[in-house]
Amino acid sequence: MSMSETVAIAADHGGFDLKSILVPELRALGFAVLDLGTMNSDAVDYPDMAETLAATLREGRAQRGVLVCGTGIGMSIAVNRHRELRGALVHDALTARLARQHNDANVLVLGGRILGPELAKDCLRTFFTTGFDGGRHARRVAKLS
Ligand code: RB5
Repeated sequence: MSMSETVAIAADHGGFDLKSILVPELRALGFAVLDLGTMNSDAVDYPDMAETLAATLREGRAQRGVLVCGTGIGMSIAVNRHRELRGALVHDALTARLARQHNDANVLVLGGRILGPELAKDCLRTFFTTGFDGGRHARRVAKLS
């Protein structure tokens, strides 16, 4: 039996609607999905959700992650406080592709109040189907952690 990669996803209330759209999209890409919440539109604090996702990756319960808040900015700031995580706030397929090819980003960050659902799905698909280019980029990424 082949083991599929697990992707953890978390959002605050500003990202809850988009998270609901992205979970089935991740499953359609063949990933096991660990949905860490939030599970409704009641207000929660984005740093708490980012910490939960960071702990999940640190413990090896998922290999990569997705974070969604209203703008993506708060989640991006929060997740990049963890040296082993490289969160990329992405706005289109180009930034999604380069976040993987150049930065080996392991957490995709999206703004649920910024992106429409089709654009967000395009970002998700591109991010999770693009590999790291390595080479000169590997040296630079190694300097991050
Ligand atoms: C919540 O209102 C909002 O501040 C949050 O979702 C996010 O955009 C923060 O960066």
